[in-house]
Amino acid sequence: MIDTHCHLLPAIDDGSPSVEQSAVVLSLFAAQGVTDVVLTPHLNASTVSADGDAAVARRQRAFDELTRGAPAAPRLALGFEIMLDVPMPALALGDRRFSLAGSRYYLVEFPLSVVPQFAATVLHQMSRAGVVPIVAHPERYDACSPPAVRQWRQAGARVQLDATTLTRPTTRGQRARALLAEGLADILAADNHGDRRSLATGAQYLQEHQCGSVVEHLTTRNPGAIVSDGAMTDVPAANVVEGWMSRFAGLFNRQS
Ligand SMILES: [Fe+2]
Repeated sequence: MIDTHCHLLPAIDDGSPSVEQSAVVLSLFAAQGVTDVVLTPHLNASTVSADGDAAVARRQRAFDELTRGAPAAPRLALGFEIMLDVPMPALALGDRRFSLAGSRYYLVEFPLSVVPQFAATVLHQMSRAGVVPIVAHPERYDACSPPAVRQWRQAGARVQLDATTLTRPTTRGQRARALLAEGLADILAADNHGDRRSLATGAQYLQEHQCGSVVEHLTTRNPGAIVSDGAMTDVPAANVVEGWMSRFAGLFNRQS
């Protein structure tokens, strides 16, 4: 499996605070079958023009520190998770230091209150500039619905579901499963912040809910296309079959 979204560079954002904590998480990932991890600290698009070079330098220093204490596996690559508080500056779209592993793919997120049409416009601008935006965890947004996300994909974006949220009996979990059920999800990622979230959680859940046929596509094949700068392929629609216990739990867990 390949994880293209995590916050394991030490003490650089709200993720892991130390090399030691990151090393524990990375060792667990390796034991679970994760071969590659892209380290994606937060970056605001509004700061890229003035502070982009400094952000890249900070990231490199944290990476050098991490590599001195990280386990031999998984392999590590660099990226950013870019908050599109403003549209991404055109210059930065030609600068692959801001993409995932130097590829054509840029991991992006929006403020929680994002308006779907604004997002579609911004994503389309990126796609016209020749890069592929990957929308991180769209299930977080109140505006997230299959029609909105279909529009984002038509604008050239690809979609990353949060591997742990996918398993939850919450509104966000339901939104993530609805996207999967309509064939609108492209990859899973852990978005680990030095905690217990992992791709393996989502993969196991899908195996146990009659969606095993899409696990390799979501966790290995399409994430592999990102780190090798190849083309992704569409993941078939997959309907999570929930037992009565999880449906019952969902009645009492509508938040988050
Ligand atoms: Fe993140």
